[in-house]
Amino acid sequence: SWTMANYAKTAIAHIKETVGNGKVVLALSGGVDSSVAAALISKAVGSQLTCIFVDHGLLRKNEGDEVEAAFKDSGMNFVRVDASERFLGKLAGVTDPERKRKIIGEEFIRVFEDEGRKIGFVDFLAQGTIYPDVIESGAGDAAVIKSHHNVGGLPAVVDFKGLIEPLRNLFKDEVRELGAELGLPDYLVWRQPFPGPGLAIRIMGEITKEKLAILRDADAIFREEIANAGLQRDINQYFAVLTNNRSVGVMGDFRTYDYTLALRGVTTTDFMTADWARIPYDVLDKISSRIVNEVDHINRIVYDITSKPPSTIEWE
Ligand code: XMP
Repeated sequence: SWTMANYAKTAIAHIKETVGNGKVVLALSGGVDSSVAAALISKAVGSQLTCIFVDHGLLRKNEGDEVEAAFKDSGMNFVRVDASERFLGKLAGVTDPERKRKIIGEEFIRVFEDEGRKIGFVDFLAQGTIYPDVIESGAGDAAVIKSHHNVGGLPAVVDFKGLIEPLRNLFKDEVRELGAELGLPDYLVWRQPFPGPGLAIRIMGEITKEKLAILRDADAIFREEIANAGLQRDINQYFAVLTNNRSVGVMGDFRTYDYTLALRGVTTTDFMTADWARIPYDVLDKISSRIVNEVDHINRIVYDITSKPPSTIEWE
């Protein structure tokens, strides 16, 4: 019978046969797909696999440490590259969303190549491409990588013998099931999608360390309260956006002039269209009062009540 346990067994055997004694490198983002691919390939070829986790400094609160904790002691070769200074340097003064994406995509490839060179000759590049990615990228050609969903054209710039994509036939829910089967922790298996450019496209206008810190704290409170309300699996994607807008507020005896934070939550099946999530008012109220009380420089909070289309899920 067709079960995930059988799928894993077959896939592991197939990967073993393909890789032989070769070396494999995988860009691990901490997202569901690359995490499950890493776990599967690691079961097949053990230390022949190296996972490179590029920390671009645009991750959510504690995210880098969580990814490291999940993989470091798993027996695989896991490299975390702290490249935040490199990325923030390149992004200084940049405000245009598409330029941000382009800079991050290019810098990601450079960091990945620099790390790859340290490993020496690498035979295979592994990717967590899943079935919907294959359809969306058109011909289903293994070499095609969607710049939107993955971090950008790795195979074009790095010369490998082959590409390993063990999740190519699976849908997202099957990938999660496989992840659970392989023993990945729940918080990785059930992680909501997070864009490759990270918080860079959730900070409107220029990205600074100060803005990153504000957004990280606010977003963490939002996620914590959604979890406290037991809504984390009902809302398919939810996050905070730091707008570039400031407005007047009052705090005790003082007038403030601080940032407006936007909260976004959507329900969707395919992320191509989406509806705004009907988060209960009392939950929104708790989130709002906690954020303004606990996070400096935010004095106003709005909830995004537009669907996609005409809006997009992200603000940039
Ligand atoms: P939009 O904002 O286009 O988002 O409605 C649809 C889905 O795609 C994600 N997204 C991205 N993912 N790189 C990514 O890896 C990107 O540049 C990017 N832009 C949007 C978004 O988070 C949502 O899940």
